[in-house]
Amino acid sequence: MTSLKGKKTLVAYFSWSGNTREAAHYIAQKTGADEFEIIREKAYPTEYNACAEDAKAEKEADERPAIKGKVENMAQYDVVFVCVPVWWYTAPMPVFTFLEQYDLSGKIVIPFCTAYSGPSSTLRDIVSATPKSDHRDGICIVTKEMGGKDMVGKHDKIDKWLTEIGF
Ligand SMILES: Cc1cc2nc3c(=O)[nH]c(=O)nc-3n(C[C@H](O)[C@H](O)[C@H](O)COP(=O)(O)O)c2cc1C
Repeated sequence: MTSLKGKKTLVAYFSWSGNTREAAHYIAQKTGADEFEIIREKAYPTEYNACAEDAKAEKEADERPAIKGKVENMAQYDVVFVCVPVWWYTAPMPVFTFLEQYDLSGKIVIPFCTAYSGPSSTLRDIVSATPKSDHRDGICIVTKEMGGKDMVGKHDKIDKWLTEIGF
């Protein structure tokens, strides 16, 4: 496995309740990466059921909702982590908006997700959405909690994975 240490790295993440945000911050800290938060322009409802319905409708329509901001100089990055919660068995739609906005050819894209039960097709879908990139195996961190507090207990698992993929 080629070492990825010292490569210019970006951690792009989406998070609604905080789990993926906490994990993304940890990954960025461990790898010395910059961070970019993927935020839908129209905020999701803060109440779970309303958010779930909104997200489901958006997924069923295969939408590419507008997102806030831009990564400055994406060309400088060699490695891009894409960290997401599983939403309706895949990544939230704004993540696909993000992935389709940039030329990620030749970069190493590494998927990561958090979920209540499991990744379903989420990690594969991030790989499929970045066909011109190289990839490393992603992981899914399963937690029954929301809000990010349970993530600290998962750091060992993240450490092991980062070592396996070359960090
Ligand atoms: C709209 C919505 C849909 C979800 N769909 C799934 C799912 O299909 N499978 C799953 O295991 N967890 C699902 N979950 C649970 C989240 O993936 C899990 O709580 C995740 O850690 C939340 O990450 P966050 O705190 O970064 O938002 C869903 C949560 C929400 C809000």
